[in-house]
This record gives sequence, C-alpha cells and structure tokens, in this order.
Amino acid sequence: MTDAADLLRVDVALSGPAVETERLSMHYQVGPETVRALDGIDLAIPRGQFLLVRGRSGSGKTTLLHLLAGLQKPTSGVVRVGGQPLHAMPRRATDLFRRRNVGLIFQFFNLIPSLTVEMNVALPLLLDGKKLPTLRGRIGELLDTLGMSHRRGHSPHQLSGGEMQRVAIARAMIVEPTLVLADEPTGNLDSRNAHEVFGLLREQAIARKVTTIVLTHDPDASGYADRVIEMHDGRIVKDTCGGSARAGVRDAD
Ligand SMILES: Nc1ncnc2c1ncn2[C@@H]1O[C@H](COP(=O)(O)OP(=O)(O)OP(=O)(O)O)[C@@H](O)[C@H]1O
Ligand SMILES: [Mg+2]
Repeated sequence: MTDAADLLRVDVALSGPAVETERLSMHYQVGPETVRALDGIDLAIPRGQFLLVRGRSGSGKTTLLHLLAGLQKPTSGVVRVGGQPLHAMPRRATDLFRRRNVGLIFQFFNLIPSLTVEMNVALPLLLDGKKLPTLRGRIGELLDTLGMSHRRGHSPHQLSGGEMQRVAIARAMIVEPTLVLADEPTGNLDSRNAHEVFGLLREQAIARKVTTIVLTHDPDASGYADRVIEMHDGRIVKDTCGGSARAGVRDAD
C-alpha cells in the first residue's frame, strides 16, 4: 500500500490538469426529498491555478471540497487528481493520498489545543512516521516564511485568530502538497488578517506551484485569484478570471 501511495505521488507530480471532475453529483435522500447538493459538476483545474469558489450558503461549496479531498464519495461522477480517479482507490489509499498530497485549511483552524505550534505543524508528518528532530529545520523555515517563528513553543490558545490560521497554513504546507483546499479560511478573521491570509496562500501557491482552491464569501478575495467560479444550487453558474489574472496585481481595490 505504501508503494502504491508513493507511485500516486509521482503520477500526481507529472500529469495535468491537477484536478478534474466529470458530471460530479452528490444527492442526499432526506425523507421524500432529494437534496441535490452537487449536480453534475464538470471542472478542469490546471496545475498551479489559484481558484476561488463563491456562492451563497447551501450552494454546494463544502460538498465539492469534501469530494475533491476524498473525504466523501460522490453519488455519481468522477474526480481525478493528477490523472488518478480518486474514488476508485481503496479507502486506505485515498487517506494516504490525502495525507501526503493535500493540505486542508478550515474556518476554525482545527489545531490540536494540547500541542505546541511546532507539534501542530509537524503533525501530518509525525502521523506518517517521521521523527520531530528531523523536521525541526523545515518547520523553522516554514514558520519564518509565515512570520510565526517567535510563537513556535506557544499553545494555540495563546495565539490570535490570524496567528492560528498561519499555523494551520504551515501545517498544510509541511507535506509539500500538490493541492491546497481551504474552506472559508478567513471566515473568522478581521479584514486585515483576511488579506494577510489570502496573500500568504497566494504566495505559497506561486512559490511552490501548488494548485489552490479556496471557498469564500469574502468579496475582497477575487483580487488574489486566477479564476473565480460561482455556485448556485449545486451547479457552476459563472466561471470568470480573477483579479490577479486580469490586472496582474494582488489587490484590485
Ligand atoms: N448530510 C447531508 N444530508 C442532507 N443534506 C445535506 C447534507 N450535507 C449537506 N447537505 C445539503 O447540501 C447543500 C450543500 O451544502 P454545503 O455544505 O455544500 O453548502 P455550502 O455552499 O458549503 O454552504 P455554506 O456557505 O453555508 O458553508 C445544502 O443544501 C445542505 O443542506
Ligand atoms: Mg460550506
């Protein structure tokens, strides 16, 4: 199984588009009603693209992200990540694939309260059998890039919201992901910290050529994106260039 996961990593690095969906649907049966959370999504995301997904509450954004991460199986349709049909893999391979290739970032940070910043960042690799002393250099570099090295020994409850999200970004990046998926990463931050987090995600995406998909309600975010899609009732209703692609600048306002 480990060999299979290693092969996956090689395939992911070589082929493109980075992420592709075909007629992707997720329907729930709630009593007599069928909820079409996702309804036939066709999407191709080139490697390194910074994509924003917008849409009002209930439009299907989180459902899409869960399917792209392999956290849920679709009712029908296909997700290919780096050419690999994600949901055709055995469960354990999907879990390994996610741990080694995907950085996940959430609105409520999801840091482990009992662990220091350093341990939180190291966690995905510790779970993969790596030892902390061998990771310290890499953690230090990442925390430096994110302006957090002075908080290395702190606990999450000793950090501000913006700082917690920067730690969560470091934790996502430590695995050197090919794909970063963020669900409302600035939903809990003030606008200054929100801009900082979008800027950091954008910088990381460019520096490491990481395909980045961010779900957001933030109207200021499109200046950071190459592309913006809008969802409504489980479908993509708009697909446009973001501010970075149009103007070549980060912040259009
Ligand atoms: N387990 C479930 N069972 C039934 N319906 C569900 C389930 N999970 C989600 N839904 C429905 O699917 C639709 C899409 O939900 P989703 O969480 O993807 O929306 P969202 O765009 O992320 O919304 P928000 O902006 O509020 O986070 C909603 O109508 C929701 O009620
Ligand atoms: Mg959501």
